[in-house]
Amino acid sequence: MKAAIAFLISAAFHVRSAWFFAILISLAIFSSCKKEELPEPQDLRGLHPVELLPPANFPALQEHPDNPLTVEGIELGRKLFYDVRLSGNNKISCASCHRQDLAFSDGLALSNQGFSGKQLSRHAPVLFNLAWADQGLFWDGGAKNLESQALGPLTSEEEMHQDLYELESELKAIPDYVNQFRQVFKSEIRSTDVLKALAQFQRTLISANSAYDQYTARGKSEALNGEELQGMKLVAEKCGTCHSGALFTDQRFHNNGIDAAFSDENEGIYQGHFRVSLNPADLGKFKTPSLRNVRLTAPYMHDGRFKSLEEVLDHYQYGIKISLTTDVSLFQNQGKPGIPMSVSERKAIIAFLNALSDSEFISNKKQSENN
Ligand code: HEC
Ligand code: HEC
Repeated sequence: MKAAIAFLISAAFHVRSAWFFAILISLAIFSSCKKEELPEPQDLRGLHPVELLPPANFPALQEHPDNPLTVEGIELGRKLFYDVRLSGNNKISCASCHRQDLAFSDGLALSNQGFSGKQLSRHAPVLFNLAWADQGLFWDGGAKNLESQALGPLTSEEEMHQDLYELESELKAIPDYVNQFRQVFKSEIRSTDVLKALAQFQRTLISANSAYDQYTARGKSEALNGEELQGMKLVAEKCGTCHSGALFTDQRFHNNGIDAAFSDENEGIYQGHFRVSLNPADLGKFKTPSLRNVRLTAPYMHDGRFKSLEEVLDHYQYGIKISLTTDVSLFQNQGKPGIPMSVSERKAIIAFLNALSDSEFISNKKQSENN
């Protein structure tokens, strides 16, 4: 139930539409009774089930029995992801802020590409390896899973400003969609199925073919050079408590010292995971982003404040700000704040971060607009 409440709070932050709340409340009730009543298994007749296999060096995957992946569901999700008709003014798609060539981020610190044209309060994050994101989505963990997350952008005035009732009737006027929804969900078009299809597509966005992966999982010892290998060791030592494992994130919430105070203005947006948990120990804690593809995804942090990886390293080395929740692992300077790095160590770290770019992922035709 706690999760259901957190979900409501986070959703309330995004929107005001009555439809949105009706669906939200039923989803919340549904998720709170889940233990007693299992969801009805989806009718997969005529569909081709897809089993996501974790890359050899990745952790095991969570299962989603209530939204099984199928070739047809993923394809429908891909179409929806790139379709501007999902927005209130038919001009904005998910891809307006999540571009494949930028590992599904947008290259802007704070986007003003949404419906209202107003600047958003948070930076658009990358979308990949979300099938492993088991601690909630959004920078503060405010959405429980991909199925519920998309309600935020779809209905938010600042983002796509879509009325869900209108969305259903708009899509029902497009014969291809009518057929595809009937095939995948055995039903006429429902907004909950729009969310499910989007979730299916996003679960298949897996980035696991960087030079680092060639080296660690494919046995290509020449894939990383000496400097990159030194960088790999340094990242594990100096950054690895949070940017851990093959995902380069522990999926947890940390205060990495970019601010010392967390104002309660703007509906708690600056307070990090506290907005969701209401636990003072979570003030200023944001979800650790992956280090994969960071070379492609500037600017950085939840508000896009740093323009380059050099600025990020400057922050960790010289700029840690102290508050009650600053993470202890940032005190690497003989107990003082900061992560010491020599000039050559910084070079090696940056070289390794570059080796986490996955050019196959950002150019995968199957996940592009026109596949
Ligand atoms: C106007 C820009 C914009 C549009 C359009 C947009 N997003 Fe986002 N997206 C964002 C921003 C900004 C965030 C971060 C919000 C936050 O954390 O508070 C985000 C966060 C996310 C996340 C969370 C990722 C994570 O790692 O936690 C997912 C998933 C996502 N968006 C998917 C979508 C989908 C699906 C659509 C289309 C239905 C969409 N977005 C449309 C800007 C946008
Ligand atoms: C205490 C945990 C922790 C440690 C240690 C840590 N980070 Fe982070 N890192 C985070 C968190 C949390 C964020 C997001 C903070 C935010 O946006 O408010 C982040 C953000 C980043 C980003 C921005 C990514 C993006 O997509 O915006 C980069 C790059 C980064 N860290 C690199 C490093 C490097 C390199 C090191 C080691 C020198 C390091 N981090 C050490 C927790 C940590």
